[in-house]
Amino acid sequence: MSSMRATAVIGTQWGDEGKGKIVDLLAADADMIVRFHGGNNAGHTLVVGGEKTILNLVPAGVLHPGKVCVMGPGMVVDPEVLIREIDALQARGLLRDPAWLRVSEQAHVILPYHKAIDKARERMREAGAIGTTGRGIGPAYEDKMARTGIRFGELFDDAGFRDALARSLVEKNEYLQALLGEAPFAAEDIWALAQTWREKLAPYVTDAGAEVRAALAAGKRVLLEGAQGMFLDVDHGTYPYVTSSNCVSGSASAGAGIPPQAIGHVIGIAKTYTTRVGGGPFPTELDDALGARLRADGDEYGATTGRPRRCGWFDAVVVRQAIALSGVDGLALTKLDVLTGMDPIRVCTAYEIDGKRQTKPPATQHGWARAKPVYEELPGWTEALGSAKSLDDLPVNARRYLDFLVKSVGAPMVILSIGAGREQTIRLGDVF
Ligand code: GDP
Ligand code: IMO
Ligand code: MG
Repeated sequence: MSSMRATAVIGTQWGDEGKGKIVDLLAADADMIVRFHGGNNAGHTLVVGGEKTILNLVPAGVLHPGKVCVMGPGMVVDPEVLIREIDALQARGLLRDPAWLRVSEQAHVILPYHKAIDKARERMREAGAIGTTGRGIGPAYEDKMARTGIRFGELFDDAGFRDALARSLVEKNEYLQALLGEAPFAAEDIWALAQTWREKLAPYVTDAGAEVRAALAAGKRVLLEGAQGMFLDVDHGTYPYVTSSNCVSGSASAGAGIPPQAIGHVIGIAKTYTTRVGGGPFPTELDDALGARLRADGDEYGATTGRPRRCGWFDAVVVRQAIALSGVDGLALTKLDVLTGMDPIRVCTAYEIDGKRQTKPPATQHGWARAKPVYEELPGWTEALGSAKSLDDLPVNARRYLDFLVKSVGAPMVILSIGAGREQTIRLGDVF
């Protein structure tokens, strides 16, 4: 068998573009689905046969029995949340075989103190808060980079785990008490928890990267499932209002444990308008009744935290940059149905910063704070789109809008989503 190249699916905006829906759809034609970064800050929604599933950690291939779902080396994983998610899926008859879920022994463990630090820090920041999900993501990635983190493999090495934990707690408890005014953690309590995690998770923890490489070598089809979105990327996003991992397709290689040449195709997902949860710049944000309407019609409330999402017009500056940085070869455009009844519809094609027009996003906080969107207006439509089967079924103005988006961002559309349901999708091109 010849070796295959993987397809990466990534968000091109600020997250919640519909990655869960699209990965679930594409998973029908895949053998393995790999999450390569992030943790349960993600909330990926799947709607199949009218039933809604929200996944925070397990890859969005899980509704297809027999597909292998892999949580890669680049993830940070809260064992409590993972165990709850596995239990809930198994209660529905899913994940019947442990071979269908693989958890990298290199993934970092989110420990109770990571969550306490995340929340306490956000409280201290007050108005300057990032608006994190409070799941301990930042503090866990900090420990990974500081080389003081604990990985899943360590759960199975009593002495190693206890040593690493004791060393870490000296610093964490001092920090929690002296700077954040929080209660300290006892090593014995965490150790007791870790033993329950170990018992439950033992069937899944493995050298996941090696399994992904072996699948590709055996000619299997592998999907790499991104979380968050390009502008939440720690290097390329609206820093410091970002998450603590890389969201660009380039990080899929290290995060899944495969060489870069093993990624053959990149699908970028973009909502046909824009949303963002938490703090930070958002040039096309609508603070008015139109924004409220997008939120209501698009059901724009966080899948993880329930927070209302900030809503605004499509920003081609942002998506164009994501396409360039992630090498997007095909776009999946989502939620076009939500724009029914909006007239006119606006698209931001450039920013004006200090009186100068520019078509690239700024790199600094200062630039972002000054970026004013330059809009083009397009006529809307009033027909509901949810049952369209092909582009020909769409109103002419909806097609014109799509043509305009595609031309503004410079990548072809390969999937169009016109409703939350798996079947409410129009496929236009190959993705493997
Ligand atoms: P993800 O984080 O990128 O997986 O996206 P989320 O699941 O957080 O948010 C996307 C939301 O939009 C979910 O509630 C989906 O069920 C829903 N959704 C996805 N595609 C469409 C679509 O084309 N139309 C509508 N109306 N809803 C959609
Ligand atoms: P999915 O995969 C939308 C945002 C948070 C906050 C910032 C940092 O569902 O698209 P963190 O907890 O990661 O330290 O928070 O990033 N954020 C997301 N926003 N979708 C997500 O994931 C997100 N994951 C993190 O709201 O602004
Ligand atoms: Mg989400």
